[in-house]
Parts: sequence; structure tokens; C-alpha cells
Amino acid sequence: MPSTRELYACLTFTAMMVVYHCKADPPPPPENLTFKWLDPFFVSVSWLDPRGLKNGEFKYKFCRKGDEIGTKCRIDRNFTDRCFTEHSDSDNCTFEVWTVGSGSCDSKNESERREIKIQKIRAKLEEKKCIVYPDGMNCSWNSPRKQRFNFSYGTCEHSKTVPLKPLTTCDQPYSGAKRSGCYLKDNKRDFNMCIYVETEAGLSTFKPEFVIPPPELSITEGPGVLQLDLEHLKIGWCYWNYTVCYTRCNKPEVCESIISDGKALNITYDKDCLYQFRSRAEPTEACKTITSNFSKVVAYGSNKTRYEPLTVVAIVIPIILSACIILSCYCFRKHSAIICPVIPDPSAIFKEMMINGNKEHKTSGKLYTPVPEPIEPCIVTLVAENGDLQQNS
Ligand SMILES: *[C@@H]1O[C@H](CO)[C@@H](O)[C@H](O)[C@H]1NC(C)=O
Ligand SMILES: *[C@@H]1O[C@H](CO)[C@@H](O)[C@H](O)[C@H]1NC(C)=O
Ligand SMILES: *[C@@H]1O[C@H](CO)[C@@H](O)[C@H](O)[C@H]1NC(C)=O
Ligand SMILES: *[C@@H]1O[C@H](CO)[C@@H](O)[C@H](O)[C@H]1NC(C)=O
Ligand SMILES: *[C@@H]1O[C@H](CO)[C@@H](O)[C@H](O)[C@H]1NC(C)=O
Ligand SMILES: *[C@@H]1O[C@H](CO)[C@@H](O)[C@H](O)[C@H]1NC(C)=O
Ligand SMILES: *[C@@H]1O[C@H](CO)[C@@H](O)[C@H](O)[C@H]1NC(C)=O
Ligand SMILES: *[C@@H]1O[C@H](CO)[C@@H](O)[C@H](O)[C@H]1NC(C)=O
Ligand SMILES: *[C@@H]1O[C@H](CO)[C@@H](O)[C@H](O)[C@H]1NC(C)=O
Repeated sequence: MPSTRELYACLTFTAMMVVYHCKADPPPPPENLTFKWLDPFFVSVSWLDPRGLKNGEFKYKFCRKGDEIGTKCRIDRNFTDRCFTEHSDSDNCTFEVWTVGSGSCDSKNESERREIKIQKIRAKLEEKKCIVYPDGMNCSWNSPRKQRFNFSYGTCEHSKTVPLKPLTTCDQPYSGAKRSGCYLKDNKRDFNMCIYVETEAGLSTFKPEFVIPPPELSITEGPGVLQLDLEHLKIGWCYWNYTVCYTRCNKPEVCESIISDGKALNITYDKDCLYQFRSRAEPTEACKTITSNFSKVVAYGSNKTRYEPLTVVAIVIPIILSACIILSCYCFRKHSAIICPVIPDPSAIFKEMMINGNKEHKTSGKLYTPVPEPIEPCIVTLVAENGDLQQNS
């Protein structure tokens, strides 16, 4: 049957592949991997030649576990690399070594891998940082209580051309209830420096974070402007651009930059506003490993309550109007007798007019004469053109 024949062919092929694979026996792996500390930061890993191979038939490959891209291929039976206690929880201090056969690094004829994990008794130090000042650095970490320790530091560089140098011991160690560390009075200021701390709990090796204290902002008031100047820290070759962020009258924060050798920054100043500034140095290419945090907020001026013209219209005018109305009501009530005396019967007036004709001197005697009152803010008298008093009509 065709299916049986196909199956047979398939099986034969698989068998042949297995045989071929066995013939392509990979080279044996390196033997007896060991390591040796060259200093607190660098370790040398070495091994023995695999059994049964002649020189020139093989080379070695090695890498940090998980870092395939960093794989190197050599003929030597050892290599040197850096290992920090800070990284020893991960695979960063685990190395893999294997043999490539056929004398070529490109060959896929590779042995299985051998692993070596490098560890030390580790003291975990938190929030390690070095604050950089013009005359030195203050390197410290969080310590819940005073602690005894040995502190030394040295270069993080090592290669065939850069030999290891002995570490320098810290000469101004301090230990407080919050932070412990060392003040390094060192003009050389190597920003490629690594630190080695030995405490009773164990060791710690690390590359610290370098920070500069936030810049100090000085504010000068000019006509309609605030001139912002930032103090420039002189640290070796380093220079900084600065960022100044501010809020004005509770408006959203805006940020502006000041370049290292640039002039001061002028911003328009509104005298009725509270300004709140914070600033920080931005690392530049020259010293890009040194960072800075924002400074504390610096306030200038104060918020003043202002009435917009519309507010005046909306608040003041109704108040004036209602005051006027109340006053006039009051006035009207008090003097209603004057303003609106008892209205005489018009027909009676008419009759009187008819009887007396136009002789005003006769009618005047009959008309109402206002009696002057002592507290009189509002006297209403009606005067005719000829000066005689008349009844209002
Ligand atoms: C290499 O390791 C094997 C077993 O792990 C041991 O028997 C042998 O003695 C070691 N060889 C050397 C040279 O240390
Ligand atoms: C590393 O290997 C080279 C050459 O094989 C040798 O000269 C050197 O001493 C070795 N270094 C260590 C630390 O084993
Ligand atoms: C592992 O160590 C190398 C060299 O010290 C370092 O460059 C790398 O960032 C480390 N990786 C991790 C994940 O810690
Ligand atoms: C792989 O390398 C080993 C050791 O160099 C060699 O004996 C073997 O023949 C090689 N196999 C292939 C398929 O090249
Ligand atoms: C170094 O920093 C610590 C803690 O941050 C502080 O107590 C100490 O005064 C600083 N030392 C110097 C010399 O600046
Ligand atoms: C500091 O170093 C000295 C001398 O090497 C040693 O005796 C001492 O135990 C060390 N202290 C700590 C806390 O490791
Ligand atoms: C900033 O304002 C001051 C006056 O307050 C003036 O003297 C200065 O030239 C201005 N600077 C810039 C860069 O405009
Ligand atoms: C510093 O400011 C200048 C001028 O704005 C700019 O060209 C440069 O890229 C800035 N540098 C950094 C590191 O931001
Ligand atoms: C920067 O400030 C934040 C928040 O205040 C703080 O958590 C962080 O540790 C600071 N970074 C440095 C390098 O001081």
C-alpha cells in the first residue's frame, strides 16, 4: 500500500538523520569551570581543555547568561568580567562557556554549555548615590541605624590595556541614623567610579548614581520682568543646561530652558500674581551620567484679588441701585404727605375756578401751604413761573 511505503520512507529518512547527527558528534564542553576575584569588582573565570581534543581544533565561546549578543569567541581558557553584588540576584553574574569545534567561531558545531554562578555574601544597600560638589563627592546610602563598614572605591574600567589599580580607602566615613557613607575629597573625580562597601552583613559593590545638588535660583525684579539667574556649578569639564518651571497665578506649569553659558532668562512679571519656581540642571553630553533633581519650590510675589470690569458691573451697580430704591422708599414714606397730599376733588377745584375766575390772589389763600419741618432732607415745593405757590396739577 502507498501509505505503508510512504511511512517506510519516512522512517528510513528519520533513521538516516539520527545516524548523521550521531556522526556529527559535537565537541565536548569545557571542564572544571572556576572563578577567582581579581579585586572586589572583577572576576576571572577559567576552565580546563575538554578531554580528547587537540589544540587548534576548537575555540571557546562565553557570555553573561541571557546576553547572547555579548557572546565572545576566544582561544584562551579564561576571561575577565565585572560582577556587582547588586546584580547577583539576577543572572548578571552567571556566565556560560562552551566549545566550538572545527576551529572556527562561525561553526554551528557547538558543545553543550557549562554555567558558573558567581556570588558573594551580599549586603543590600538602598538608595545609593553620590552628590557631586565642586570639591568632592558625598556618597551615601540609606542605613536604618549607625553601622560599621569599610568603604573603598576605584575605577570600573578594566581591560587588557587598562590594568587594575588598587582601590582607594575612604578617609572621611560617617554613619548616621538615616544615611551612612563617605565624603571623597578628590579633585580627579572619576565618574566611572565603582564603590566597594564591606559591612557586618556582607559586601556590596556597585556603580553609584551621580547627582548634583539642584541649582539655586536668584530672582531679580525689573520693569515688568523677572530676571532668573541660576548658579553654575563648576565641576571638572561638566556644564549644564538648566530647566526652570513655574506656575503663575495657579495657571498650569510651564518650563523653559537656560543654556549653560547663556544669559539669564527674563519672563514677564505680573505684579498681581504669585509665581512658583522650581529648577534643575540637565546633563549635557560632557557629563551625561550626572543628573539633578528639581529644587524645592521658590515663591515670588503674591496673588491679589482683582475685580474685572464685568464683576464691577455685575456686583456694584445692583448694590447702588437697591440702595437708591431703599432710600427713595424711605424718603417717600416719610414725606408722602408732601409728595402726595390728600388729592382734592377735581370737580370741586373746577367749580371753584368757575366761580372765582382767574383771580389768583383769591385762590392762593385757599391752597395748601407746606409747613416747614426741622429735619427736612427732602422738601418738595411746587413753584409756578410767577413765583406764587400753587397746587400741583
Ligand atoms: C575536574 O573536575 C572533576 C570532577 O568534577 C575532578 O574529578 C577533576 O579532578 C577536576 N580536574 C582538575 C584538574 O581539577
Ligand atoms: C588566561 O589565559 C592566558 C592564556 O591562556 C594566560 O596567560 C593567563 O595567565 C590566564 N589568566 C588567568 C587569570 O588564568
Ligand atoms: C549586567 O552587568 C553589566 C556589566 O556590569 C551591565 O552593563 C548590565 O547593565 C547588567 N545588566 C543587568 C540587567 O543588571
Ligand atoms: C565538530 O567538532 C568536533 C571537535 O572539533 C569534531 O570532532 C567533529 O567532527 C565536528 N563535527 C562536524 C560535523 O564538523
Ligand atoms: C554628606 O551627606 C550626609 C547625608 O546625606 C550629610 O549628613 C553630610 O553632612 C554630608 N557631608 C558633607 C561633607 O556634605
Ligand atoms: C574593615 O576592615 C578591617 C581590616 O581589614 C577588618 O578587620 C574589619 O572587620 C572590617 N570591617 C567590616 C565591618 O567589615
Ligand atoms: C532682562 O531684564 C533686565 C532688566 O530687568 C535687562 O537688563 C536684561 O538685559 C534683560 N535680559 C534679557 C536677556 O533680555
Ligand atoms: C543645551 O542647550 C543647547 C541650546 O538650546 C542645545 O543645543 C543642547 O542640545 C542642549 N543640551 C542638552 C544636553 O540638552
Ligand atoms: C529625586 O526626587 C525624588 C522625589 O522627591 C526622589 O524619590 C529621588 O530619590 C530623587 N532623586 C535623586 C537622585 O535625588
